[in-house]
Amino acid sequence: MDSRCVIYVFSGTGNTRLVAEKYRESFDGNADIFDIASDYRQLPMPDRYDIVGIGYPVHAFNAPEIVIDFAKFLHCGERKNLFIFHTGGEGLFFNDSSSLLLRRILRRKFCILSEMHFVMPYNMIFRHDERMVKHMVTYMNKLVPFHAEMIARGEREKIRPMPIRHLISFLLRIEWFYARFQGRTMKADGRCTSCSLCERNCPMDNIRIIDGRPHFGTNCALCVRCSFFCPEGAISIGLLERWKVNGRYPIERIMKDESIPETIPVEKLSVLYRRYYRNCSALSEKEMRPL
Ligand SMILES: Cc1cc2nc3c(=O)[nH]c(=O)nc-3n(C[C@H](O)[C@H](O)[C@H](O)COP(=O)(O)O)c2cc1C
Ligand code: SF4
Ligand code: SF4
Repeated sequence: MDSRCVIYVFSGTGNTRLVAEKYRESFDGNADIFDIASDYRQLPMPDRYDIVGIGYPVHAFNAPEIVIDFAKFLHCGERKNLFIFHTGGEGLFFNDSSSLLLRRILRRKFCILSEMHFVMPYNMIFRHDERMVKHMVTYMNKLVPFHAEMIARGEREKIRPMPIRHLISFLLRIEWFYARFQGRTMKADGRCTSCSLCERNCPMDNIRIIDGRPHFGTNCALCVRCSFFCPEGAISIGLLERWKVNGRYPIERIMKDESIPETIPVEKLSVLYRRYYRNCSALSEKEMRPL
């Protein structure tokens, strides 16, 4: 592809970043990826690019508030083509509500082409097993090039208005307010070794190590990066503790492991996933059939 693309991505635990990297590969490397974090005002704006992408993890059927703030800030001298992608631990139809407010903000400044949801391993709720992880990543690897081609052709997708989606997305924005309170409920227990990884990695600069222990402020995005990657599993996430997932998914190893099948037949998937994967296959019979 000759066009140059810029992708802005918010990613707590790496899934959305992985998808962004697949877009870059699908655009023949003609893409720059920038991480949205609390200092997003330092990021280059898209003026010298042809296409703009925005990616984020779905949080409670919404985009994280930092992504909305960034979209309000994002500006460009010309009206450019823009695409959206999001990742979530399941393929429920309500995940598409997550972009409603984002679209409203962005369509004044950009021409929104299309969006795509990618099911990726849960970083909250429960840990997916390795078969399911391979299935998800295999499909993502097939879907991104398909979407990238649509984007390169400048194809525009029509969105059907659905009031129930607006309602769900609006009600669950309570998560943004909860995120501020969340910092007050997070703490590290005696397993903490004061390695300061959580402090260095927090995208919101919300953690300070004081007297050898992390202290959490009120600028949390609920991205769960701190608890997910804590090598000791020492961080408890307050009211959400029973849904905590701790530890990186070894995606590279899983994808290379030939003893794990590439995909799972749709009828053997949990009902949470069947509609999504049926739609994926229908989306591009030709591209998806080899699976
Ligand atoms: C606070 C929170 C809320 C979440 N809500 C949803 C959700 O509504 N729907 C969903 O499919 N996944 C949800 N997830 C799972 C993540 O969206 C999913 O694991 C995503 O791929 C993580 O991406 P990341 O690694 O780029 O942060 C949630 C995760 C967190 C931490
Ligand atoms: S990452 Fe874990 S072990 Fe390291 S400072 Fe933070 S809480 Fe402590
Ligand atoms: S405190 Fe933890 S969950 Fe909150 S923004 Fe920082 S890394 Fe993410």
